[in-house]
Amino acid sequence: MIQDLITFIGRFHPLWVHLPIGFLIIAVFFKAYEVFGKRPAMQEAVNFSLLLGTISALIAAVLGFMLSQSGGYEDDLLDIHLVAGWTTVIISGIAWWVNKNEPRFSKKLNYIVLGFMILALSVTGHFGGSLTHGEDYLTAFAPFGEKQKETKGRVLAKVEDAEVFTDVIQPVFRSKCQSCHRPGKTKGDLNLVSYETMLKGGENGPVFIAADAEKSELIRRVTLPYDHDDFMPAEGKKPLTEEEIQILIWWIAMGKADPKVSLMAADEEIIAWAKPRLNILGGEKMIAVSIDTVHLKALEKMGFRVRVLSHESGALDVVLPSDAAKNQASELLKALLPIKDQIYWLSLAGTGVQDADLNQVAQFSNLQRLRIENNPISDSGISSLKILSKLESLNLNGTKVSESGLEALSEIHSLKSLYLWNTVIDSKVAKVEKMKAEGVKVVFGN
Ligand code: HEC
Repeated sequence: MIQDLITFIGRFHPLWVHLPIGFLIIAVFFKAYEVFGKRPAMQEAVNFSLLLGTISALIAAVLGFMLSQSGGYEDDLLDIHLVAGWTTVIISGIAWWVNKNEPRFSKKLNYIVLGFMILALSVTGHFGGSLTHGEDYLTAFAPFGEKQKETKGRVLAKVEDAEVFTDVIQPVFRSKCQSCHRPGKTKGDLNLVSYETMLKGGENGPVFIAADAEKSELIRRVTLPYDHDDFMPAEGKKPLTEEEIQILIWWIAMGKADPKVSLMAADEEIIAWAKPRLNILGGEKMIAVSIDTVHLKALEKMGFRVRVLSHESGALDVVLPSDAAKNQASELLKALLPIKDQIYWLSLAGTGVQDADLNQVAQFSNLQRLRIENNPISDSGISSLKILSKLESLNLNGTKVSESGLEALSEIHSLKSLYLWNTVIDSKVAKVEKMKAEGVKVVFGN
């Protein structure tokens, strides 16, 4: 309780510090005006500003001390800031006293004291800024010197070179965690800028355990309810998305927290999500297809669920939920024609689509995954699909497909998986054997 109150009051420190800075600087300007403008009457104003400056600096120092008790600040920087802060208080007090009794001291002494006061003020301010914003806050965007490396992800020659940690997880940490977990600002003693520093863990020890996502503090922190005290990122900062959490879990669990594990080892969906985020050399990014969001919104209104698979290619995953279809699937399908080349995944399961509708679906020339299970579809409809030269996965569970329908499908050379539960086709027939021999995974329910 008392601790909370101290933290509450202490948090006014960053606001309050602007007062002494203002008072002490204006005192110096008044002094300059007094001397160079030959206005001896200004001395009163100099005195008064220095007095206000000293008192407000004292208050700032006390508030700062209270704030430091809440912890989470880089110790070395904090020590310097604290000493410099109290030095500022003392020197400004001396400056006030010397100025007030100027006739007793030499003018020179007065100027020297004021000079030291500004110096102490600058040092305090600089280290204070580093404490709140990180050490490179001032210089990160300076036109001179080396820009901080790695503000952007590294550039890759091809997707296959991508590593889960370096190319996917680190950019996430960079944008969502490193404002508080980096050198100069290691909250919880945790530095998330590299694998090595992450391995060192935080004030409570390791933050991840290879192959055990559940016991990993890192995962616990990001999956807690938002309002939990331990939730990360703290202070209401933008939380990780579902996908970001999934890849973090995948990396620790399946990737065994290996910093070099390839993105290609991850699940298909993770790859699809991560791909457009990579920085691939001169790659497809250049010809990014613009996605007509207005049209997508209209589709969503009609009941479709649309998801962007890749911003590079504009690839879409379109689902027509069976309850949204309301026996009007053929009508609704027409609305997809303007974006037919962008539909890579399509699900029409249980929507009542019929053979004639598949003629339309066959025009979606980039289709890679198609789900038309549990529909009154027969061989004649299925044969129209044979022109889908990129189709990799087809789900025909619960349709009227028969052996002769398989004939047409064997013309789709890209096909990798075929689902045939609840159909009249026997898993032992020659056609199925042949497809299996050609490398197609044919799945029956039993
Ligand atoms: C606004 C600042 C802030 C941001 C942003 C932030 N953290 Fe933290 N983090 C803290 C503070 C403060 C602590 C120490 C207090 C605590 O343990 O809750 C901490 C502690 C932790 C700890 C525990 C370290 C230990 O050993 O006790 C982990 C793990 C952690 N953060 C992970 C993350 C991750 C992952 C992100 C990005 C998704 C993140 N943090 C973003 C402020 C932040």
